[in-house]
Amino acid sequence: MKISDNKATISFSNGDPSFEMPVYKGSIGPDVIDIRKLYGQTGMFTYDPGFLSTASCQSAITYIDGDKGELLYRGYPIEQLATNCDFMDTCHLLMYGDLPSVQKKKEFTHIVTHHTMVNEQMQFFMRGFRRDAHPMAVLTGLVGGLSAFYHDSTDINNAEHRDISAIRLIAKMPTMVAMAYKYGIGQPYVYPKNDLSYAGNFLRMMFGTPCEEYVVNPVLEKALDRIFILHADHEQNASTSTVRLCGSSGTNPFAAIAAGVACLWGPAHGGANEACLNMLGEIQRNGGVEKVGEFITQVKDKNSGVKLMGFGHRVYKNYDPRAKLMQETCNEVLAELGLENDPLFKLAKALEKIALEDDYFVSRKLYPNVDFYSGIVQRAIGIPVNLFTGIFAMARTVGWIAQLNEMIADPEYKIGRPRQLFTGSVRRDVPAADKR
Ligand code: SDX
Repeated sequence: MKISDNKATISFSNGDPSFEMPVYKGSIGPDVIDIRKLYGQTGMFTYDPGFLSTASCQSAITYIDGDKGELLYRGYPIEQLATNCDFMDTCHLLMYGDLPSVQKKKEFTHIVTHHTMVNEQMQFFMRGFRRDAHPMAVLTGLVGGLSAFYHDSTDINNAEHRDISAIRLIAKMPTMVAMAYKYGIGQPYVYPKNDLSYAGNFLRMMFGTPCEEYVVNPVLEKALDRIFILHADHEQNASTSTVRLCGSSGTNPFAAIAAGVACLWGPAHGGANEACLNMLGEIQRNGGVEKVGEFITQVKDKNSGVKLMGFGHRVYKNYDPRAKLMQETCNEVLAELGLENDPLFKLAKALEKIALEDDYFVSRKLYPNVDFYSGIVQRAIGIPVNLFTGIFAMARTVGWIAQLNEMIADPEYKIGRPRQLFTGSVRRDVPAADKR
């Protein structure tokens, strides 16, 4: 970052001394005001619940222009990556800063492929869960549990440990998500097969059985690979910020990623694709497209507590570029499977059209986000609704790791420890029990 010749001065109407703060410029995007000395100089904190105006770090990984609806991974537009690259290219790009050469990609893919198996003991973890446990509960447990198997790579301050942990997490997430699925349906686990692609391997571990050879459908394989690319990273979103804050204590990478999995589960974040599909299903059951107007009226009524899941975004105040690409993938997958008339897809498109013509959404700059169509694609592929966020976690693991490693490698980083505006009771004495 560069120090701007612009300065920020905070002055107080009560005559307290004003305070000057440096302004820094990034390569693109908003400048920042360095407030690190504010408390020391003024005895005051800034106040920004939800961090709407707060940059928590500097990063060179992903950039979003919310007004333009632009998403760049290490400078490359998501549209170009989704069209000209695959998920292994994207993992290498996010982790190491550039797209791999043909040889580098072969080496990277080989090492990831050869770490896809999990320790056989992991099966005993699984047995502790009920068969109907939510896959995200299982995944949170399994990812955290990985640190119990890899004592050789838990020192987050050791660059080699960070690198091998990154490979292990990227490689083993599909295996663990597929295991959570198989456990839930009472089918045997399917081991990874090293001659398949990352996405193809996942499809086989999900839908293959020991009873017959599983043939990977290339259209579904490409669709899943694109879903992974689109979900790989997204600046300092809630789960990435969770991973950074968790990792800032020096805990091991597996524990930090497990915290990210837990945060992503929330319906306001990665759980929105599951919530969106459930919302579409409910509208469909209540009458389908004819009932969309009624549903939109409910959404606009603040007291209803109903949100249009898959719509709106903290940063995008324009169409989420990932949603456009996801809609394209939706068309391809539904056509391949002969589901062009899928009622939920038609319903989603009708819902989007009506919302984008309604002033409530237009005035609040609410557009479809990545979760609006991703559920429909995954459902068409045969992925159960309660596993959608697990797929999101699988894809986002590389982003979480890249961001965590970037933080740890930053000599300026400290343990994160926000302050507060205290509004509770002032000091008071404990009354005797008979006086309470
Ligand atoms: C992801 O951060 C990331 O980058 C996340 C993510 C990633 O890749 O990591 O992009 C992935 O989490 C996408 C978002 C998925 N969540 C949803 O689709 C859930 C539905 N969306 C909302 O919950 C909401 O839009 C958020 C949480 C996504 C953003 O919320 P903000 O930025 O805090 O905005 P807000 O809630 O203050 O909304 C502003 C206004 C409010 O109305 P007013 O108080 O101004 O009258 O818009 C309304 C909100 O009530 N609003 C919605 C709405 N989203 C916002 N009203 C109806 N339906 C919605 N979906």
